[in-house]
Amino acid sequence: PTQLAARAAYLLRGNDLGTMTSAAPRLYPHMWSWDAAFVAVGLAPLSVERAVIELDTLLSAQWKNGMIPHIVFANGVDGYFPGPARWECRKLAANAPDDLDTSGITQPPVHAIAVQRILDHSRRHGRSTRSVAEEFLNRRWPDLVRWHRWLAHARDPKETGRITLYHGWESGMDNSPRWDRAYEHVVPGDLPPYRREDVLVVSDPTQRPTDREYDRYLWLVEQMRRAGYDDYQLASTMSFAVEDVFVTGIFALACEVLANIGEEYKQPHADVRDLYAWADRFRAGVVATADARTGAARDFDVRLQRWINTETLSMFAPLLCGGLPRDTERSLLRVFEGPRFCGHPDLRYALPPSTSPVSKDFRSREYWRGPVWPVMSWLFSWVFARRGWAERSFMLRAEGLRQASDGSFAEYYEPFTGEPLGSMQQSWTAASVLDWLG
Ligand code: DGY
Repeated sequence: PTQLAARAAYLLRGNDLGTMTSAAPRLYPHMWSWDAAFVAVGLAPLSVERAVIELDTLLSAQWKNGMIPHIVFANGVDGYFPGPARWECRKLAANAPDDLDTSGITQPPVHAIAVQRILDHSRRHGRSTRSVAEEFLNRRWPDLVRWHRWLAHARDPKETGRITLYHGWESGMDNSPRWDRAYEHVVPGDLPPYRREDVLVVSDPTQRPTDREYDRYLWLVEQMRRAGYDDYQLASTMSFAVEDVFVTGIFALACEVLANIGEEYKQPHADVRDLYAWADRFRAGVVATADARTGAARDFDVRLQRWINTETLSMFAPLLCGGLPRDTERSLLRVFEGPRFCGHPDLRYALPPSTSPVSKDFRSREYWRGPVWPVMSWLFSWVFARRGWAERSFMLRAEGLRQASDGSFAEYYEPFTGEPLGSMQQSWTAASVLDWLG
């Protein structure tokens, strides 16, 4: 284990560009929003100071409306498509920062978890490290609250208690079967030509989304450009709009985590009150989608006005934020641990696959259509510990570490064979390992 931790630390140092850690050396050579949060979780046990820098870099790219963009582009680094020239946010978006290149969409709000881990680790150290963490919190608190306020307002304009996304990339689970039907209704129009870079890096293209999917991803970017990335316009013009129950579960959790931090570290009372109110509202939004018997949650397609029924990780959103009646929660845990997910008899490790192996949508090697993502195992293990399920958390950690012992730090794994897939040396995989071993 110490050797694995040393390799993970070495990997993060290798991916360190100075004030940001690239999400992966070749496939994702820039900073991704939720990757950066998980990376900060992994940096915290190594250096609280460096973890703080990671979040500072991300927050310095925050938009004027409060959005944290999904990519902060590293200066002078090429090799990723769509890059700044395709997004053109500084030219087209009134809200984009003036001095940095970013994308024009967002990603799941896991950042409060990183702040929590930084504070946890800072307490193990002397006064100077503690003050670095607390100075960071005081300085960035208003930005963190602005970020949550933007999500609660701009992304839930009708107050359904669920976060609306206008691009599948915003879910972080780009090609999940959750979005298949919504994408069928995205009909690419006059799409400027482009060349993919990702399939040049991952040599087996079947591990990545298809060209047909990419056309739709790029068409949505085109629609956003035409709307000037304006929150208000997106709501009426985008051909893709879904209420993402998993992002909503993360958001409810993150609001509560941040509210707890705010209370403990004496941040403004009015902010803490808002954060608790959002935690309640979005928890209720998640619970309202859940099946009365199994507790499984569902996404909602805003354009088609219909529920999305797929067997994916999104079913487990209520486990992240709580709120289900006790018996229903037990049922949902049984689904998580049973033969449709972690307990499927052919799995190499008892970890949750991104899509259930018994679903017709399951593809064992295709990105979010089946593979096991270590960072998701980490997220569930952290949340389960927080919720008081120590045994369950420990099992995920033990299995996650067994999987990681191959030393590839892959982005995702084939669930049956354990073959590492996608990008190797993925920063957030190393970060997960570091937190588990920290
Ligand atoms: C990618 O490029 O594959 C990312 O997931 C999109 O942000």
